[in-house]
Amino acid sequence: MQIEVKINGVLKKLETSPGERLLDLLRRKGYKSVKRGCEEGECGACSIILEGKLVKSCLIFAPQVSGHSIITLEGLSPKGELHPIQRAFLEEGAVQCGFCTPGMILAAKVLLDKNPHPSEKEIKEAISGNLCRCTGYVKIVKAIKRVGETLNKNV
Ligand code: FES
Ligand code: FES
Repeated sequence: MQIEVKINGVLKKLETSPGERLLDLLRRKGYKSVKRGCEEGECGACSIILEGKLVKSCLIFAPQVSGHSIITLEGLSPKGELHPIQRAFLEEGAVQCGFCTPGMILAAKVLLDKNPHPSEKEIKEAISGNLCRCTGYVKIVKAIKRVGETLNKNV
């Protein structure tokens, strides 16, 4: 079957099957920022933005996003330049192995788009579905707090 979905602002017609998960479709099509972690909705490594909301692509079948708009991490830096959230993560040392980072950054984007000046509590809530095995979260929270005022929302 074929679905039409807008990915990072570009309308795509993609072949899929009723049982293919969005995670698998996106990785098959080269969106490798969408990480394969637990595949059970627990880790957040596969997070994407669907119509403005953070969702776990391992829990969605690809045909469910037909007619919708999604954003992967690739969409935050279409010309290769770092998005302000990416830059803040680097500058704050909030990245180690990087496996959780795409999901964390998308979680941060969803939060900051709605609330450019979040409290520490609000940041922790926003990333509560994203697990990091490396950084201990302190630097991640600091990076998200720092970027609020300079975030370019036009992605
Ligand atoms: S791979 Fe989807 S939540 Fe872990
Ligand atoms: S940086 Fe390694 S899991 Fe988060």
